[in-house]
Amino acid sequence: MTEAIRTEGIEYVYPNGFQALKGIDISIKEGEFIAVMGQNGSGKTTLVKHFNGLLRPTKGKVYVFGEDSAKHTTAELCRIVGYVFQNPDHQIFNSTLLDEVGFGLRNLGFSESEVLEKVKVALAKVDLKKSLTDNPHFMSMGERHRVAIASILVLEPKVLILDEPTTGLDYKRSLELMELVKRINGEGKTVVLVTHDVNLAAQYAQRVVVLKDGQILADGEAKNILSNTELLAESNLVPPQINFLAKRLRDLNVPENIIKVDEMVEFLQKHVKLTKASK
Ligand SMILES: Nc1ncnc2c1ncn2[C@@H]1O[C@H](COP(=O)(O)OP(=O)(O)O)[C@@H](O)[C@H]1O
Ligand SMILES: [Mg+2]
Repeated sequence: MTEAIRTEGIEYVYPNGFQALKGIDISIKEGEFIAVMGQNGSGKTTLVKHFNGLLRPTKGKVYVFGEDSAKHTTAELCRIVGYVFQNPDHQIFNSTLLDEVGFGLRNLGFSESEVLEKVKVALAKVDLKKSLTDNPHFMSMGERHRVAIASILVLEPKVLILDEPTTGLDYKRSLELMELVKRINGEGKTVVLVTHDVNLAAQYAQRVVVLKDGQILADGEAKNILSNTELLAESNLVPPQINFLAKRLRDLNVPENIIKVDEMVEFLQKHVKLTKASK
């Protein structure tokens, strides 16, 4: 399997002297859907910004599809690894949807007709049905997240990094956004999702990396990490609700690493004799 991103011993010290990353080794395969979790300040944003050169390591190496990222400009890396900002308002700066989503393309020298075509495709991908002349600043939070994602998708990166994309969205809107991201992953793109939300991570990610104080606390299959109560407690996280039920039902031989409702239903249907409720 192709390796999309690899970091070797990366450390990062901010200009004020604060060391935010203390030696991170991580390998992300092409097509993976990985969640990066951890408390506020654990280094999630700092880490993922290294994946496309928005930050450069103070020490260590970052490889993007096997290439040493130090040999490439941030602009080159951004075409392969797209980063959607934690707050869409830090990303959106144009006053029409066309200018906002088409900005990167115009910079790359695409013709106006190509820009128009590609912008329309990107907006359809994120299900944003707005006029190209609408001002993105006046759209709802959910719509602004979609604009931010479309402006990155339009450049057709192979890896999509989403930094806490559901911040400020209610649960229904969060799920809609995640379904969209799942579809993008299904089309073959590698997804790196930074999130606090164990339920969303359980539902969508195959693999979870937990950061603590600039180091990796855990890295493994989602169902093993997100069912490990003691481990999660070190990062002030708790397993998804359905896992509490799984643990309470261990006498029925329910696996203690169930983290999704669907898995629970499947297990119960297979192994437990259910009596149909009588009307
Ligand atoms: N520009 C900066 N200058 C100095 N310290 C920073 C800067 N940005 C972030 N930090 C610090 O680095 C640590 C990691 O930050 P960050 O990567 O944003 O964490 P997270 O995304 O997990 O909340 C935090 O302690 C934060 O205060
Ligand atoms: Mg962050």
